[in-house]
Amino acid sequence: MEDQMNDYILTLENITKEYPGVTALNDVTISFEKGKIHALVGENGAGKSTLIKLLTGAIDKTSGKIFYKGEELKNNSPIKSLDRKIIPVYQELNMIPTLSVYDNIFYGHEMTKGIALDKKYMREKTSELLKQVGLKVSPKTKARELGVGNQQLVEIAKALIKDVDVLILDEPTTSLTDIETENLFGIIRNLKKRGISIIYISHRLDEVLQLSDTITVLRDGEVVDTRPSYAFDEEHLIKSMVGRNLSRSTRNKEKTVKNEKVLELRNVSTDQVKNISFHLLKGEILGIAGLMGSGRTELAEAIFGRDKITSGEIFVNGELKKINSPKDAVDEHMAFITEDRKTLGLMLDLSVLENVTYASLKKVTTNGTIDKDEEKQVVEEILERLNVKYASLDEKVLNLSGGNQQKVVIAKWLLTNASILIFDEPTQGIDVGSKEEIYGILRKLAKEGKSIILVSSENEEIMNITDRVLVMSNGEIASEYKSEALTADTLFKDSARLL
Ligand SMILES: Nc1ncnc2c1ncn2[C@@H]1O[C@H](COP(=O)(O)OP(=O)(O)OP(=O)(O)O)[C@@H](O)[C@H]1O
Ligand SMILES: [Mg+2]
Repeated sequence: MEDQMNDYILTLENITKEYPGVTALNDVTISFEKGKIHALVGENGAGKSTLIKLLTGAIDKTSGKIFYKGEELKNNSPIKSLDRKIIPVYQELNMIPTLSVYDNIFYGHEMTKGIALDKKYMREKTSELLKQVGLKVSPKTKARELGVGNQQLVEIAKALIKDVDVLILDEPTTSLTDIETENLFGIIRNLKKRGISIIYISHRLDEVLQLSDTITVLRDGEVVDTRPSYAFDEEHLIKSMVGRNLSRSTRNKEKTVKNEKVLELRNVSTDQVKNISFHLLKGEILGIAGLMGSGRTELAEAIFGRDKITSGEIFVNGELKKINSPKDAVDEHMAFITEDRKTLGLMLDLSVLENVTYASLKKVTTNGTIDKDEEKQVVEEILERLNVKYASLDEKVLNLSGGNQQKVVIAKWLLTNASILIFDEPTQGIDVGSKEEIYGILRKLAKEGKSIILVSSENEEIMNITDRVLVMSNGEIASEYKSEALTADTLFKDSARLL
């Protein structure tokens, strides 16, 4: 017994966590081995983040016990947990946009020299940490200038300034491409070699299988399976997560594209992208691929009037239009579903219902008044399709799990009347089953004659659900493919072409 205890750095025993109306964790028992990578998987709302928050003292359990290095953890708090070298990188990014990368990294434990801040040291240390996570930006860069993917890397770098015994990563790869993910895995494996124990949460099951030593599956707050990774395969893992077999959609062959240009850019440049020329057809799903910082998101922002266009022309339905602001874009029936749900996609303090209907009130308006019952019904229907887990329509979005918040953003935009929909990483943080559902809805929208631009870092998504793909590199379009002609290999090569 003694020996066995020593192998485990952390053990949860019969942990239950209740929220009003939801049992987030129900009698959960898990042991984490020292120096191993232990993955937690499960559908959105299964209880993964709740478990992490308990370990780090961010919230308190309803019942049960937690043991750390053989001793019971009592009166845990985030500060005590950091002292114990349990370091979390949360799913929600916590950077302060107006501060530099190094200020963010040292926030809360600034280095002083005499009474002044030792900025030189902080910058140098930051450079070193950024190198460790493979991020090539200056420590002086303002956080707001980084994309979400780069912010993820900075958050990881931040975790490494301290001595770590247990590193917890809650969906660190959501906006990373395959190559970037590989790089991160290298870092994680090195940490493991140093004896650090890692708890890893991800919806990318292929990654989980590749990286982790042990996998625990949570479903509806309960542990349904724990095994060494080699004893799982993807299909089995999905079945455990969703409790049934899931038919994964294969490449959708149905052609919905009409030969009618709904959008065309001619030589458009902004400060971020150069000489962009392409068109989007009615009923088409056009993918935008490329590495982090290649200009994927910036291209979308240019179309939507979020960046000033310095030269070039935009045509909507064949007519030259001035799109100088998101409002202009909305007037042209465009919608932009941003990757940064926390700041732009949701009003966290408002209810699920208010968030979903925010952009689409017109749909359920008769004679200028909103039909409340019909509104509820429409909202319930779309939330059901997306398998959103929520206690009631009046619940604040803030209380939803990360993936369920993302589903609310999608639901909101799926209900609008926009005819050109731009999605930036729509499925980040979303579980496999619901992803398939979202792909199905996107294809259906295309069939109804809507046109979709899909910015994505996931190869599989880009290749399987789009009709055509533009590969961005260094702010330019490096190449264009019919999706059926595209392979992961070409995607990789073209992404790096103009670098
Ligand atoms: N503060 C809260 N108040 C009420 N309910 C909450 C709160 N935090 C979490 N929940 C609920 O607890 C359940 C588990 O949420 P949790 O965030 O742990 O899920 P998750 O497995 O991390 O999901 P995801 O993959 O979407 O991130 C969900 O039903 C969620 O709505
Ligand atoms: Mg979560």
